Amino acid sequence: MTEISVVVSGTGRMGREVAAAVLAEPGMTPVAYIDGLAERGALDGIPIYREAGVGLDEAKPQVVVDFTNAAWTPVIAKAALERGIPLVIGTTGLSAELMAWLDSEASARGVGVVVAANFAISAVLMMHFAKQAARFFDYAEIIELHHEGKVDSPSGTAKATAEGMLAVRGRPFEHRTPEAETVAGARGAELGGVAIHAVRMPGLVAHQEVIFGGPGQLLTIRQDSTGRNSFMPGVLLAIREVRERRGLVVGLERLLGLE
Ligand SMILES: NC(=O)c1ccc[n+]([C@@H]2O[C@H](COP(=O)([O-])OP(=O)(O)OC[C@H]3O[C@@H](n4cnc5c(N)ncnc54)[C@H](O)[C@@H]3O)[C@@H](O)[C@H]2O)c1
Repeated sequence: MTEISVVVSGTGRMGREVAAAVLAEPGMTPVAYIDGLAERGALDGIPIYREAGVGLDEAKPQVVVDFTNAAWTPVIAKAALERGIPLVIGTTGLSAELMAWLDSEASARGVGVVVAANFAISAVLMMHFAKQAARFFDYAEIIELHHEGKVDSPSGTAKATAEGMLAVRGRPFEHRTPEAETVAGARGAELGGVAIHAVRMPGLVAHQEVIFGGPGQLLTIRQDSTGRNSFMPGVLLAIREVRERRGLVVGLERLLGLE
């Protein structure tokens, strides 16, 4: 079996977790990191390049995996696609312009690109099940719970869950606003009738509950990510699959055969 050589873009928390997972996975090898902000050198024996083009030309990977930020992703994406190298992107907050460019560039070059905002298979299934349930209930609320350092609220996953549920339902959910709100914001944020409540505190990683309500019945779908390792099976699957794809694939659900 030929080893899949992987360059990891980003030496942050996710980048290092991906490199370790690739190292531990039979049939894959991390050959380099690329990180414009890191010191040149090596991390756990894996060389670090600061310049995208130089790193790719020297490491010659079969796949690039990017977990950085919206400023750096376009740089590594351009360098990878120019060289015909398939790309797996986990960075969140990408612009619509970048997504459109990835779509046209990946198709034009016949190269696979996978972009997924959530690589945790349990989270993807939670969103899938929530979409399935959305047709059958008029009331739905989301409680998302994350560590205290999370920069955005609500989470991208909570927003994507509500949007997916609304797309299936085709109209807003029922949302009751109290006549007297004695503490502002007590009903949470609201998206298409779905109230979204964000909890932030130490002890949490990434969790979400979607609660559907109907007469005399409730359905609760809950998902918990208890560590960054929750994302790794999805990332490893994407590394294998992206080589077989042509053009842009958005969402792990497409690789799991859920859509
Ligand atoms: N898709 C998923 O399942 C998933 C899961 C967790 C995190 N994420 C996303 O992955 C990304 C990284 O998360 P993290 O926790 O590893 O963050 P982090 O802050 O630990 O690491 C970010 C990395 O990006 C590099 N970087 C940032 N700006 C740069 C620039 N301008 N030029 C070059 N390099 C730059 C940093 O040096 C660092 O190595 C975030 O967008 C996060 O939301 C996605």
